[in-house]
Amino acid sequence: MEQNHRGAWASNIGFLMAAIGSAVGLGNIWGFPYKMGKSGGFTFLIAYLALAIFVGFIVMVSELAMGRKVGKGVIGCYHTLSKKFKWVGWLAVFAPFIIMSFYSVLGGYCIEYMALNMGNLAFAGAEIKTGTDLFGAMLTNQFGCVVFTLLFIVICYLINRGGISGGIEKFNKIGMPALFVMLVIIIIRSLTLDGAVEGLKFMFVPGYAVKAGFIPEAPNFLTVLATAGGQMFFSLSLAMGVMFTYGSYLDKKENLVRNSTVIVVADTIVAMMAGLAVIPAAVANGLTSINAGTTVIDAATGVERAMTLADIKLNGPSLLFVTLQDVFNAMGSIGPLFGVIFYLLVLIAAISSAISLVEVIATFFLDRAAEKGKKGSRKKIVLIVCLAILVEATLVAVDGLGSNGLWVPGQATFGVHGWNDNWLDFMDMMSEGIAMPLGALLMSLMVGYEIKPSIVLDEVHLSSKARIDGFYKICVKVITPIGMILVLLGQLNDFGFISIFG
Ligand code: PHE
Repeated sequence: MEQNHRGAWASNIGFLMAAIGSAVGLGNIWGFPYKMGKSGGFTFLIAYLALAIFVGFIVMVSELAMGRKVGKGVIGCYHTLSKKFKWVGWLAVFAPFIIMSFYSVLGGYCIEYMALNMGNLAFAGAEIKTGTDLFGAMLTNQFGCVVFTLLFIVICYLINRGGISGGIEKFNKIGMPALFVMLVIIIIRSLTLDGAVEGLKFMFVPGYAVKAGFIPEAPNFLTVLATAGGQMFFSLSLAMGVMFTYGSYLDKKENLVRNSTVIVVADTIVAMMAGLAVIPAAVANGLTSINAGTTVIDAATGVERAMTLADIKLNGPSLLFVTLQDVFNAMGSIGPLFGVIFYLLVLIAAISSAISLVEVIATFFLDRAAEKGKKGSRKKIVLIVCLAILVEATLVAVDGLGSNGLWVPGQATFGVHGWNDNWLDFMDMMSEGIAMPLGALLMSLMVGYEIKPSIVLDEVHLSSKARIDGFYKICVKVITPIGMILVLLGQLNDFGFISIFG
């Protein structure tokens, strides 16, 4: 079982929990439900599922298989397997490092919100701040943001230094089931609020988001496809070296086809569940405010006007830290309890993803030490990786989503709207926008045309009789590259570099 004393998963279920933990993250909670509603509910779901089967599943199997075959982290894999694509491994270590710059800041926000709700619970009756006020105050408190970011990174450090089975697996084996139970509690509360059904319609009924006035117009089909592809990729933790790395610690007897299927299905189910937990509650609460005659200042004209459905913020940081905090505030004395449960749930999701990102980088250094004949110290390596992450994350934390006006590269020079408004967007553009889709595109070309699909399939067949050869070859040679080009164009479009999808 042990591969050069690198460590290994203690059980297949432990591996699965860790891989699902990596996949289930902020992307599921604040991205998927909104994108689904905006893109016509079932249309999006079908596009998402098709892409998950023909592209996501294929890339997942490939990454796990190559990782296990070579028995090294992602850079080691590319170096061993390829001549032409050697350097792609670097992209897959660079991207996780950059993602951690903002993931740890957002994780820090979750800790802060959990603490705030605990405070509300303990001091019932004290004045409670609105989501907007809280979020604004938090973002401009730079010192506070850095401290909570640090706390989040310390948690990751403590888990990663425990190693594969002693740290990552242990955390996920408890964390994932706990997350599931908490999610069910929040779903029950959300769906029993007055007006929740409007939220369900937003998510599932085709065309409803436009008809009811949540969004001005429906995106076209290409945009839906590109959005679904980008979301699927990020959500499944692909092209980030994670599945190579986790695969390299997996026993040869474990079935890669079945495991990949379980990860893809579980991640999709949790994304849908997250939708049921947050969207109906957010919409119900928004409707209450609208019916109560709440007014807002129009962003475009600066004039005060009545609040409409379009004013309910249903995605990104605002959904988590403004809209939902208001939902908990409106629940009365029990609200803070739901708040604590919810932010703890999001925190667990964030930690289990973050530790997979840290592990990609740590495994690279550990393998490199082993190649030089040394036994690298995991504790020391994880500490250095976490310190480096702290440096870049401090920048994002201090920036406070642009609230504090820090200069961002390219801001004044290009004036492109979208990717350079703040440090978080800038980091997101480099990692999720470019490195991920590009990395996956190059990986499928490498497997399809340079090293040939049989390398992956031989590894797969060590433990699986599934007849996927024909399907795999067509996908990896043709469908996956086309899908990835579409995702790449979609990302460049979203970040404002090109304008082809409208
Ligand atoms: N899958 C995680 C999410 O949905 C993010 C992530 C991406 C984690 C890539 C690891 C690697 O939030």
